[in-house]
Amino acid sequence: MEGLLDPAIRDLLGRLGGFQLATTEFLRVTNQLYPQKVFTRIMPELANNCQTKSGIPVHLQLLGSDPIAMADNAAKAAELGAIGIDLNFGCPAKTVNKHGGGALLLKEPTKVYQIINQVRQAVPKEIPVTAKLRLGWDDPELIYETAPAAESAGANWLTIHARTRVDGYKHPARWEWLAKAKQQLNIDIVANGDIKTADDYFRCLEISECHSVMIGRGIVYNPGLALEIEQALQGKVSTGRLVDWPRILQMIDEYHQFLIEKGLGKHAVSRTKQWIRELAKHYIEADVLFEQIKKEKCSVTAGKFIQNAI
Ligand SMILES: Cc1cc2nc3c(=O)[nH]c(=O)nc-3n(C[C@H](O)[C@H](O)[C@H](O)COP(=O)(O)O)c2cc1C
Repeated sequence: MEGLLDPAIRDLLGRLGGFQLATTEFLRVTNQLYPQKVFTRIMPELANNCQTKSGIPVHLQLLGSDPIAMADNAAKAAELGAIGIDLNFGCPAKTVNKHGGGALLLKEPTKVYQIINQVRQAVPKEIPVTAKLRLGWDDPELIYETAPAAESAGANWLTIHARTRVDGYKHPARWEWLAKAKQQLNIDIVANGDIKTADDYFRCLEISECHSVMIGRGIVYNPGLALEIEQALQGKVSTGRLVDWPRILQMIDEYHQFLIEKGLGKHAVSRTKQWIRELAKHYIEADVLFEQIKKEKCSVTAGKFIQNAI
């Protein structure tokens, strides 16, 4: 997730357990072939056999509307060792859509086909090429065109965010549409949208008739969610939070230190604050910490507040 699930958070979350796969934030492709450093910046895991330090496999996500440029960059990523390429057709950001990318492409199933097809041809067969779709732009029935187009273009599986572009992020996810879309496909759909609890996971699988899910915002504010789901699958009844606040504080501290070491300066503070604000949706203690540092711009002082809370 762009601006949220960066390499450091991927690693920190991965250590808690419960994940099978992660995808990078999107790399936006216009008409140029990126140099190696751009790929390694967005996906440092390339230097670690495409795994987080905690061992979670990571796929690279590309976003763009030019089939040739997408294919060239996918081929370059494959040369650099990428183990999976995911193509973003779901981003609702106005700047992205204005340039013809992300969810706007859903209006053109033929273009979706061309992009996936070119990328599929550009990377070796053993590397999965997958697509992240929404149900449509304003009409969920569009999925009946885009999903089969993606499959016939050679996508190995589809992750479908069960909302339209017009639904944004607030409309309740329409999991039932995934079951309808599935009837037309031979490849798997990974269900996405509104998985906030282990109960949501089970309800989503039942309604969507899918076998796996991708968690979005839920994992940012409840890092233990994948673990909760894993334990529920093993029949373990969990009472209370699986990841306690002291552990979360350690993670926040490590994240903040990592960003400082990366030379992010005041951006280190803003990104750390952003995560703390998200965590406050699940951890009341995060709200207290956020109140303490919300006006802080200096990374050293912010770090002291975090240290004091530990
Ligand atoms: C801030 C933000 C950034 C996101 N960035 C990406 C992204 O880079 N790639 C992607 O495929 N989806 C991205 N998404 C969408 C999520 O992956 C997911 O599809 C969406 O949030 C729905 O799932 P949820 O209801 O569980 O959050 C982003 C969502 C948010 C809120």
